[in-house]
Amino acid sequence: MTRLVAKSVPGPSVPAPVPPSPPQPWTVLDVIRWTAARFAERGIASPRLDAELIVAHVLSLPRVQLYVQFDRPLSATELPDIRALIKRRQAGESVAYLVGKKEFWGLEFAVDARVLVPRPDTETLVEEARARLEGAPAPRIADVGTGSGALAVTLAKLRPDATVFASDVSAAALEVARGNAERHGVTVTFLEGDLAAPLVAHAPFSLIVANLPYILSADLAALPPEVRVEPRLALDGGADGLDLVRRLVDAAPALLAPGGALALEIGAGQAAATVALLVAGGFLDPRTRQDLAGVDRVVSGGRP
Ligand SMILES: C[S@@+](CC[C@H](N)C(=O)[O-])C[C@H]1O[C@@H](n2cnc3c(N)ncnc32)[C@H](O)[C@@H]1O
Repeated sequence: MTRLVAKSVPGPSVPAPVPPSPPQPWTVLDVIRWTAARFAERGIASPRLDAELIVAHVLSLPRVQLYVQFDRPLSATELPDIRALIKRRQAGESVAYLVGKKEFWGLEFAVDARVLVPRPDTETLVEEARARLEGAPAPRIADVGTGSGALAVTLAKLRPDATVFASDVSAAALEVARGNAERHGVTVTFLEGDLAAPLVAHAPFSLIVANLPYILSADLAALPPEVRVEPRLALDGGADGLDLVRRLVDAAPALLAPGGALALEIGAGQAAATVALLVAGGFLDPRTRQDLAGVDRVVSGGRP
């Protein structure tokens, strides 16, 4: 049995955390603890979760099943597979890309390097969409810049009475999104093209949601490595981060039904500027919604 020893994974010369002293062979819990400690040393934000996701992936188990299999010994083939993923995680790859999936709103989405990994912050946009659609029968929803399809698919699940469209300029991202709609058994019409352009023929909409790239071009180089490997097309929002938001705010009124709404995810510090854009664009009732960290994350406005 190969043992996972500290020297097998390149790392900074920090003292090893309390080394597990498991009985031979390594168990699920041993390897999770060992890995979480290594990840913590490297400053990885969620070391235990990432360790569990990697081990669950190699063992082909739902993560929750690990908890009833902590004492299970790992086989000689499982351990090297886990070690390979640990190395890649430590080299900066995101755990979602390594395991090929990410949970969003309690649903599992396939992800790979063609799409942005859906973030928990974006669930704030789902909450705002739900609120804006309350009482609207059979709404027509558009998700602009759909990426993995996380928003479009989640909204289609939450509102089975809705007709859902989703667009992206990236044909590769749309392939991933189509797969996710299939996986969750929902019907979404996917359209390729620049921002709202492919949606014109399908207007009017009750609601347009969009989590467009909003990172300032100048900030891209300083992003953590796991974010830098995501598609630049999904990140770069131009000089002030609002290039695409500005264009969508301009285009949306022509696509919305009377009383329809536009809801946008934004970056920290962009709420005031985005509200100003909505007001200048003739939107009423501008609202801001915070994410779990208390950051203004979503701005929305309604049409007369
Ligand atoms: C920040 S990602 C969001 C993905 C997904 N909606 C989510 O919330 O996880 C932005 C998406 O917008 C797409 N995008 C970038 N520029 C675009 C454009 N001009 N028109 C349409 N989509 C665009 C990117 O390809 C990417 O999939």
